[in-house]
Amino acid sequence: MKISVIGTGYVGLVTGVCLSEIGHEVTCLDIDEKKVQSMRDGISPIYEPGLDEMMKRNIDRNRLFFTSSYEEGLADNEFVFIAVGTPQSKNGSADLQYLNNACKSIAESMRRDMIVITKSTVPVGTNEHVKRTITQHLQEDYKVSVVSNPEFLREGSAIHDTFHGDRIVIGSEDEESLNRVKQIYADFELPILATDLRSAEMIKYASNAFLATKISFINELGNLCERLGANIENVSKGMGMDQRIGEKFLNAGVGYGGSCFPKDTNALLSIGNSVDCDMAIIKSVIDTNEKQQRIIVDKIKEFVPDLTNKKVGVLGLAFKPNTDDMRDAPSIKVIRELVDSGAEVYAYDPIAAENARVYLPGATVYKDSIDETLEDMDFAVIMTDWKDIKEYPLEKFNEQLKNPVLFDGRNCFNLQEMQKYGVQYHSIGRPS
Ligand code: UGA
Repeated sequence: MKISVIGTGYVGLVTGVCLSEIGHEVTCLDIDEKKVQSMRDGISPIYEPGLDEMMKRNIDRNRLFFTSSYEEGLADNEFVFIAVGTPQSKNGSADLQYLNNACKSIAESMRRDMIVITKSTVPVGTNEHVKRTITQHLQEDYKVSVVSNPEFLREGSAIHDTFHGDRIVIGSEDEESLNRVKQIYADFELPILATDLRSAEMIKYASNAFLATKISFINELGNLCERLGANIENVSKGMGMDQRIGEKFLNAGVGYGGSCFPKDTNALLSIGNSVDCDMAIIKSVIDTNEKQQRIIVDKIKEFVPDLTNKKVGVLGLAFKPNTDDMRDAPSIKVIRELVDSGAEVYAYDPIAAENARVYLPGATVYKDSIDETLEDMDFAVIMTDWKDIKEYPLEKFNEQLKNPVLFDGRNCFNLQEMQKYGVQYHSIGRPS
């Protein structure tokens, strides 16, 4: 099938590349010509394990193309996926400017009837708006059908999630376009849930908001466990064994970050406000997370009240492992607060250090290894549970650090093990 994908952020690019992998002819379109040039050479603009190889393979097979021209990008394709960003605007709502631009450009360049499939996360009712906008700007009398097909990919495991996700949601306005879009996914062997447009749009927000709720819930309970001498890890395990609750997304830590949960929970709150619907749970999920993102600073200040000229080694900067994404990473707030309190920060991240420079200009000295980051520090802080950090030999914390004090925002290590190596270890929701 002939498919266009607009926007080559991680959703658009991963979708396009994976659809070409199963045999579709895919043209990915992005207005950034420089990005397009390097993607043509098989170089992915985002860090996503396995993506470059899959890109190169399908470019060589002649079924994956990149362009910055809408005319070339849409050509005579039957389907166009919209996967442009819908960032958070100042009032918390989703900013639809890129989506609106894409709709106008589609209308101006389409040369046949098309099925427009929205993958971007968009407020309820947006697909109807997409249809109206495209229809208004059409040059000739073509038929436009809209389909909502939200994505559930996690950064860092986006390829795996595309092929092995739990479900494919297809919201549509008519049987015909539903069946055509089902055809695209025929080889995926994943359950398909067909709904109306608005419910599909809502499923995406509801899913992300529910996962965010699990995280804020467990973090709140973790803070309570600390005060009561219980261990949140045991509590999560015990809760997760109940299949109605499920074991996933119950890891306490420094709060959720990234490009999705913070933006989507705020957008859902704003959607609720716009129709005068009280969103008390979502609101407290957001509040709890904002507090949780800086909880490690409170802990540090409790044990090291004066941070002036203290040397701090920060391990991990990305909002989670296996990504270079620094958007809304809890490390940004923590490092800013440490620096504002007079500390000198030295930081390490295996992949995200370069992006971190943009978010933390001048605030930190970046190091190339864990050893170097810990050497001669007054204490260390773990912000991301990268594999190399979790596998760092415990005895080395004591050897490298000036004072063997470790604040762990991701509960990377076993409490008893840490004690054996004489490290003063402060983690989240567990006894110190
Ligand atoms: C999330 C969803 O998991 C995807 O299903 C969704 O498609 C995507 O958003 C999106 O809307 O595009 P992602 O942001 O890549 O994916 O990251 P997650 O793996 O979900 O993690 C989000 C944050 O929650 C991270 O900061 C992570 O450290 C934190 N987290 C996760 C916890 O603090 N505890 C947990 O138990 C799980």
